[in-house]
Amino acid sequence: MKDILTAEFFVEMVRTATNMYNHGWDERNSGNISLLLDESEVAKYVDVNRVLRTLPTGFKAPELNGKYFLVTGTGKYFKNVQYAPDVNLGLVKIIDDGMNAQLLWGFSDGGKFTSEFPAHMMSHAARLSVNPANRVIMHCHPTNILAMTYVHTLDEREFTRTLWQMCTECIVVFPDGVNVLPWMLCGTNEIGEATAEKMRTARLVVWAQHGLYAAGADLDEAFGLIETAEKAAEIYLKIAHLPLVNTISDEAMHLLEGRFAVKARDGYLS
Ligand code: 13P
Ligand code: ZN
Repeated sequence: MKDILTAEFFVEMVRTATNMYNHGWDERNSGNISLLLDESEVAKYVDVNRVLRTLPTGFKAPELNGKYFLVTGTGKYFKNVQYAPDVNLGLVKIIDDGMNAQLLWGFSDGGKFTSEFPAHMMSHAARLSVNPANRVIMHCHPTNILAMTYVHTLDEREFTRTLWQMCTECIVVFPDGVNVLPWMLCGTNEIGEATAEKMRTARLVVWAQHGLYAAGADLDEAFGLIETAEKAAEIYLKIAHLPLVNTISDEAMHLLEGRFAVKARDGYLS
């Protein structure tokens, strides 16, 4: 059996959590990441038949039965992931139609997966149904996106259009746009179901006055989506109080669609 700390997926997970912390997106214990792994990959590093603990999830997700996830722990600080990955991360296998998760590695202080496990698992199921290559769900509290939800309408088309107008490449990076949920109680199955529903049509879902969710085929894609949306929100906050003299027109957006072979979300451009 190889050492999991040397696995490429594991190293990338630790680097990503560290990078997110360094960007200021994950103060204290905020944020969580889940990474879907193939059994063949997992089996190189852990005995998949050696269950350390069985953790109840409190929801059903039959689509995920038998799937493996590397996931951040609840209450754990992203800043500490690199120093004590075995405490702050856990590797679980979903069983019983999603009702339970077998801990195969990690959470070595007796901890468990993130309190946002419902939103993560339900979003994985939703994204896999539209993109079988999806592997990552990522949540964090990026400052400027969060700030924007206090001063900008939460209408999804308007929110998306504002972000697209802030940087030329936004529409290229997230042509599917940004979906938005109003403030809801976090850590519940309800917010999990609502997030998953929003994930069917976009890889970015804003939680008003809370943070952001992203989905991707790998950690880089999810990270890059957050990074790009957060940069756009930062520019918005820098200019929102100033008279607007120039913008990126819908005509220019159509040129970008052609140049980069992307298709903007239906009905979002005139
Ligand atoms: P956890 O510490 O349970 O992952 O929660 C952090 C968070 O961001 C809640 O939304
Ligand atoms: Zn949060």
